[in-house]
Amino acid sequence: MAKSTEEVAKEWDEYAEGWTTGEMGKCVLEFNQLAEEVVRSKVGDLSGKSVMEFGAGHGVLGLALAPESASVALVDVAPKMIEEAKKKIDSKGFKNVTAHCCDVLVECPFSPDSLDLIISGSVLTFTPDLPKTLAKLADLSKPGSYQLHMVFKGKEDAPVRGRSRTTELGYEDGMSEAQLRDELAAAKLSCLEVGELSPPSMEGSMTWIWALAKK
Ligand SMILES: C[S@@+](CC[C@H](N)C(=O)[O-])C[C@H]1O[C@@H](n2cnc3c(N)ncnc32)[C@H](O)[C@@H]1O
Repeated sequence: MAKSTEEVAKEWDEYAEGWTTGEMGKCVLEFNQLAEEVVRSKVGDLSGKSVMEFGAGHGVLGLALAPESASVALVDVAPKMIEEAKKKIDSKGFKNVTAHCCDVLVECPFSPDSLDLIISGSVLTFTPDLPKTLAKLADLSKPGSYQLHMVFKGKEDAPVRGRSRTTELGYEDGMSEAQLRDELAAAKLSCLEVGELSPPSMEGSMTWIWALAKK
């Protein structure tokens, strides 16, 4: 049975308060540090760019990129995650960062073809409807612009899922590279490069796949 966006938001709200300071905080910060390095090395100069961090949580990655970017929008369905993100924006005094608690499939504050870079860290495997969500993100990207998605790595031998599903929440166990490539292609995003990252404190027990894609 599919989880609704409200259920997903509620699940993540429970982690919101201690997301970057609690039990998982070290891993979350290390993950985002590695993610930032991938964005910087693969996407390059961010000056003048409008960036959206999808499923931002506290917005660690988006906030790290804010000083050079023209604008950064932090988007998450979980209200408490966005509350925490807003506190971080205020404490850092960024005027070019906005935070949006919304389901982009229902109420989207962005126009089609408007964003220069969309990034997500450990989000796509948790969205209730991945094909529709990726298609929506593709719609929001400017033609020729990049997206960089990081997903929790699942079993390599997992079968590539059918694209017609719209109701089933999946990928709780992560995604294989083939699945990620398949989903990007289904959203008409060209996958340019993939790689892996693994936070050192997890001693190799948790690995994420990243994929750089172009609209
Ligand atoms: C594992 S957390 C990652 C948070 C952040 N990217 C980080 O690395 O610290 C997943 C986040 O994705 C958000 N999320 C899941 N599905 C979403 C959707 N359809 N739209 C926006 N956010 C979503 C959750 O609310 C949660 O905050």
